[in-house]
Amino acid sequence: AVDHRACGHGKIILLGEHAVVYGSHAIAAPVPLAVRATAQDTNSGGVDMLIPRWGVEYRLHRDPAHRDSFQRSLGIIFDQLELTERSVRIEVFPNVPRAMGLGGSAAMAVAVIRALDQHYQLGLRDDEINALAFRCEEVAHGSASGIDNTVATYGKLLLYKRAAQKGDAPMMRELKLAKRIPLVIGISGKESLTAVTVGKVRNAWQRNPALYDGIFQQIDGLTLQGVEAMQQYDLERLGDLMNICHGLLNALRVSSWEVEELVQIAREHGALGAKLTGGGGGGSIVALCPQNKEKVAAAMRDAGYQAMEVEIG
Ligand code: PMV
Repeated sequence: AVDHRACGHGKIILLGEHAVVYGSHAIAAPVPLAVRATAQDTNSGGVDMLIPRWGVEYRLHRDPAHRDSFQRSLGIIFDQLELTERSVRIEVFPNVPRAMGLGGSAAMAVAVIRALDQHYQLGLRDDEINALAFRCEEVAHGSASGIDNTVATYGKLLLYKRAAQKGDAPMMRELKLAKRIPLVIGISGKESLTAVTVGKVRNAWQRNPALYDGIFQQIDGLTLQGVEAMQQYDLERLGDLMNICHGLLNALRVSSWEVEELVQIAREHGALGAKLTGGGGGGSIVALCPQNKEKVAAAMRDAGYQAMEVEIG
C-alpha cells in the first residue's frame, strides 16, 4: 500500500559531528528509519499535536511565551506558516528513536512541515522545508550546524559544511558511490540530548579555543580523506579514519560507558572502524562491517543493545 504520510528521514553521521558546528565538513547519510506525520482538520478550535507512541498529546499555545521547549521548537513551524489559528490535528509516528543521535528531532520537524504542506497545499520547496526545519533545530539545540535537517529533508548521502555567515546557504554535495557501504548501527538505549553535548563542547572550546580548534581541524581533515576513501571504496582506510575520529570525539568528552562498550564490541568482532555518531553522551555508534555485519550486530544484541544493519550510498 502507498504510504501517504509525510516523512522526514533519520540519519547517521559517518564523520565530522561536533566539528561541523564550528565550520568543519561532515559526511551524513539517511537511514531507513523515518518520522511520519499526518494532518487532519478538526473543529476543536486549535492546533493539537499527538504522538501516540510517546503518550504525548498537547494543544499548541498560541502565545510562544507560554510554550515549553518542545512546543517552542515545533511551534515555530505554525508561527512561520501562519497556521497557529487553524483547527487541525497533527499525528506523529516517530520511527526514529528519540535522543539516540539519529537526528530524530530534525526528522520530526520535517515530517510535520511536510504534513502541513500537503494538507494546506502550501507548495513548499525542499529548500524552504529545510530552512524551516533548521529554525526548529536552532531552538532545540542552540548552535545546530544544519546537517540533521538537511539529511532529514533530502534523504541523501551528503558532504556538508555550514555557511560562514548566518543566512547564507550551506555547502552540500551529494556523494555518489559505485558500491554501497555496509554499516551496523549500535543503539545504546541511553538517551542524550544533543543540546547538552553541544553545550559541553562549547564550554570547553571557550576555555581553550586554540586547543579545540586544533581538534576540529583534525576532524575536518580526516572527514575529507574519508570522502576519498569512500569514493575509492577503500574501506580499510575509511575504518581507520572512523577509529581516529572516535578518539578525537573522546577527546571532546562526548562519549559514554555504553558508547565505549559498543565500540569495543564492534572492533572485537571484526569491524574495520567504529565510532559514536551524532551528539554522543549516549545515543548510537556506527561500525563499518563489510564482512561480518551479522556477527557484529548479534554481539551487540547479546550485550543487551539494539543493533541495525544498514547500507549507505
Ligand atoms: O545527535 P544528533 O543526531 O542531533 O546529531 C548532532 C550532530 C552535531 O554535530 C553534534 C550537532 C550539529 O548540529 O551538527
